[in-house]
Amino acid sequence: MTRALVIGGAGFIGVAACKELMRRGVETIAAGRKERPYGTFTSYVAFDRDDEAELASAIARTEPDVILDLACYQPPQVEAMARAFRGTRYIFVSTGVYPSLHGRPAKEEDFVPFDGEPPADLDYREGKRWCETVLTRHPDLPWTVIRPPAVFGPADHTLRIAAYIERVADGGPLLVPAETYEKQAGVSWVKDIGFACALACDLRKDTTHKAYNVAFEGVSLRDLIEGIAHALDKPVSLHPIPFAELPDGASPYGPDPARSAGYIIDRARRELGFEPSALEDALAETLAWYRVARPSHPGYANRAKELELAGSA
Ligand SMILES: NC(=O)c1ccc[n+]([C@@H]2O[C@H](COP(=O)([O-])OP(=O)(O)OC[C@H]3O[C@@H](n4cnc5c(N)ncnc54)[C@H](OP(=O)(O)O)[C@@H]3O)[C@@H](O)[C@H]2O)c1
Repeated sequence: MTRALVIGGAGFIGVAACKELMRRGVETIAAGRKERPYGTFTSYVAFDRDDEAELASAIARTEPDVILDLACYQPPQVEAMARAFRGTRYIFVSTGVYPSLHGRPAKEEDFVPFDGEPPADLDYREGKRWCETVLTRHPDLPWTVIRPPAVFGPADHTLRIAAYIERVADGGPLLVPAETYEKQAGVSWVKDIGFACALACDLRKDTTHKAYNVAFEGVSLRDLIEGIAHALDKPVSLHPIPFAELPDGASPYGPDPARSAGYIIDRARRELGFEPSALEDALAETLAWYRVARPSHPGYANRAKELELAGSA
């Protein structure tokens, strides 16, 4: 039986990944800094992965075949992992690390590693790109990379999906970027990303030193918003304006025209057996959460200005 240590296993994506791993009969040990009550997971260890001695001791105690790492953001964390892990597979959960592709969907080969040494204080995307760069310098580490774009689902702590739901629910027009709202967007469902992570933990598949894009395919911002409207049984009106003129937080997914138009997921489909779910299923589950939790995205505070821009204030 494969044993997996899931660092960040109690987080947004981690819970989905642990559920799918346990469903597949993988011995699953979730990990995070906080102590968590007995019963949340069949097995859980608390440690801070930034303390290298704690990391090494947790790995020595749990002896995982696979580490699924959902809490790695900076190059020194990758270096520490390369020193500590001697198992069969290390899975790094990355993000959209691609350069400006100006509206072309990204394929895995579009990733360009950095040259030189990583600077300190990297922002989120640069940090992830540097982490992947450092992985390419460790042929001794049996790494695999999973690259989700923006992830939504119940308990989405980024609240980006809530930004769209609350605007559809209030019945006013939604400002969307004219250049991109009908193109494929970089979005995914948390359950699909958990599923992809679990697929990557299958040691019968050879994923060593490969990266995999995982996301919805062919879903645009328009599809997402109209899907929400359909599920809420509300009419919706979209008001396209240039991306550069969108008020802060009006459309947290962008999509930014300078970036990729979502992903090509052929490799994950072919090699991992990944298949994205129906958007309707993802929205139904997400809306069930929204109806109870009623979260609000901070950008909604600018709603009056948005309505003014759309000419309906
Ligand atoms: N959410 C998205 O839209 C999205 C999109 C693309 C990629 N990703 C990537 O997917 C991964 C998971 O994202 P998420 O949204 O699920 O994040 P999350 O909900 O914040 O979960 C991260 C988990 O990591 C644990 N953690 C953080 N620092 C740690 C440390 N030093 N030592 C041990 N555990 C630590 C936290 O638990 P404790 O607080 O108990 O430590 C937390 O539960 C991240 O790498 C993220 O970059 C996310």
